[in-house]
Amino acid sequence: MKHFMTGLVAAAAITAGGAQAEQSIVIGHALSPQSHYGLGADAFIEKLSELSGGEFTGEQAPAGQLGGERDMIEGLQIGSLDVVITSTGPLGNFVPEVYVLDLPFLFRDYDHARNVLDGDIGKELLAKIDQNNLVGLAWSENGFRHVTNSQRPVRTPEDLDGLKLRTMENKVHMEAFSDLGAAPTPMAFPELFTALQQGVVDGQENPITVISASKFWEVQKYVSLTGHVYSPVAILASPILLDSLSDEQRGWFDEAAKASAAATRAEVNRLEDEGVALLRENGMEVITDIDKAPFAELAEPAYAIYTDEYGTEMVDRIKAVE
Ligand code: PAF
Repeated sequence: MKHFMTGLVAAAAITAGGAQAEQSIVIGHALSPQSHYGLGADAFIEKLSELSGGEFTGEQAPAGQLGGERDMIEGLQIGSLDVVITSTGPLGNFVPEVYVLDLPFLFRDYDHARNVLDGDIGKELLAKIDQNNLVGLAWSENGFRHVTNSQRPVRTPEDLDGLKLRTMENKVHMEAFSDLGAAPTPMAFPELFTALQQGVVDGQENPITVISASKFWEVQKYVSLTGHVYSPVAILASPILLDSLSDEQRGWFDEAAKASAAATRAEVNRLEDEGVALLRENGMEVITDIDKAPFAELAEPAYAIYTDEYGTEMVDRIKAVE
């Protein structure tokens, strides 16, 4: 089955005439083919195919078909998957230095986050990923995360009190929501919709991109534009595949990842402009009048999860980027 054909096996396939066989890669991600991740996966495949003159083609394994993001990252390490488009949610479990990107209220806005990730800091963190049996191709984007729930409008940290809130499997996020008074419940994304539907959790937090792609309005009434954390995306590849490539082929993957990030960010921009109206049209109550300062103050202790280990230098460098 194509899905489980590793890069190495495919690279070894040579046609009878000696020409390089077409190699089909699989890109795993958690969302629908129409989502910002799906558009990013399409752009990746298109650019890779164009640059390689058709030597590489590809297909998406969307919607968590191959498991949650943590499972897919493990798939890269054992070579059962070629490329993954993933939030940093579970990535800190593999590359702890990346936790710095998950700190609440660190990034001021989209320009700030993109300038950090496209600059020296982004490159340094990709290099850290490369030291952990993964290949970091590029940074892409999920967006600023907001709280949704089925119980009440959230305007202040007190409104979060006791709310059972699904978080990603990320200890910085869990600590932040615990500091804010919620009851954080880590869970892989493929389980989330049913958990919301059955009331196992009251709410969750994700960017507008994900709330709309996942139709969370079917199971959530309130969305509060807390923008409490920026959610970067890493485009990762299997070292087993990448080590089998020539320098020229590796260059095609780097370019494909850049094209993917650009397509995804364009869709994030579109949904930042049009998404709130879409959520309202679908019956959600959107709470916009939120004073973020008390949220930021209460979530501050979560920084220690990163700074106790690595100090404050990287945090300061990120804040200093214009
Ligand atoms: O909430 C998550 O787990 C992530 O934001 C998601 C939806 C899988 C996208 O990376």
